[in-house]
Amino acid sequence: MLKMDITNTTVIGAGIMGHGIAQLIASHGYQVSLVDLNDNILNTAKEAIKQNLTQFFVNKGKITQDQADIILNRISMTTNLERAVLNTQIVIEAVFEDMDIKQTLFSELDKICEKDVILASNTSSLSITQIASRAKNQERIVGIHFFNPATVMKLIELIKGEKTSENVLKSAKQFSETLNKTVVIVNDAPGFVTTRLIYVLCNEAVKLKQEGIASTEDIDKAVKLAFNFPMGPLELSDLVGLDIYLHIGEYLENQLGEYYKPSLLLKEMVANNLIGRKRKQGFYNY
Ligand SMILES: NC(=O)c1ccc[n+]([C@@H]2O[C@H](COP(=O)([O-])OP(=O)(O)OC[C@H]3O[C@@H](n4cnc5c(N)ncnc54)[C@H](O)[C@@H]3O)[C@@H](O)[C@H]2O)c1
Repeated sequence: MLKMDITNTTVIGAGIMGHGIAQLIASHGYQVSLVDLNDNILNTAKEAIKQNLTQFFVNKGKITQDQADIILNRISMTTNLERAVLNTQIVIEAVFEDMDIKQTLFSELDKICEKDVILASNTSSLSITQIASRAKNQERIVGIHFFNPATVMKLIELIKGEKTSENVLKSAKQFSETLNKTVVIVNDAPGFVTTRLIYVLCNEAVKLKQEGIASTEDIDKAVKLAFNFPMGPLELSDLVGLDIYLHIGEYLENQLGEYYKPSLLLKEMVANNLIGRKRKQGFYNY
């Protein structure tokens, strides 16, 4: 399949990533069918997209209100998966980061989608090969890893599963480039390139804090100024969520070995619900 064949898309999961991906894709002229488990979640997603278009695009003079309305009208919402994949050429999954949920979903998608439909996962760490393992046509399953916020971040990390075909990878790359993103291609491995690296940096920063080597502020300041990073690792951990990093760390340790073991402090903070911005307390108070 070539990029010009893609007009209709499906995004599954309308959470943080799913609604952002839907907005991004619709902004580039594609029709999007956005799926989630209930109407409340879908309505919240629609409101979030509407607000985002107004605040960051219309109010900043990047697009007109008419253009924003057109983008919004390209996105239809449904809780019916079979209806959502009718006429679609590419499905992008952005449901919870859970292997069993994703494996079940991809097996189902493989059954209900036409043979030439590309099936992509936006997982940030789970092996694409394992996600695809319960599906019959595993060659059409690929990782398309967007970053948060999907409308802003420039990178897409494409992940080639063991059975992903070259054709599917090529089409996924062409499609990603039509979204005005820069693409890197990586072979399947837990955490890929980006998640594995950022997890190691953040986990090591938490260990420095745990060992009393420097204060939270100084660890962040050191990394920002020494390496010209826009954010320090502890600040970033608060933003992403310490629970998410713990989940990633446990998966990487399980798949790749002891080296990736989450630090004691990370575990303690999650156990005490100090998980960052979403609970208003982590390494910093919000
Ligand atoms: N948040 C990030 O910064 C980020 C960045 C890159 C990738 N990711 C990945 O994107 C995926 C989604 O993450 P998120 O942060 O958007 O999660 P989220 O919890 O905000 O959203 C997940 C959504 O999926 C829905 N869902 C769950 N099971 C479903 C099903 N069977 N059918 C339809 N909808 C279903 C949930 O109701 C929820 O609305 C994960 O795999 C995550 O690893 C997240």
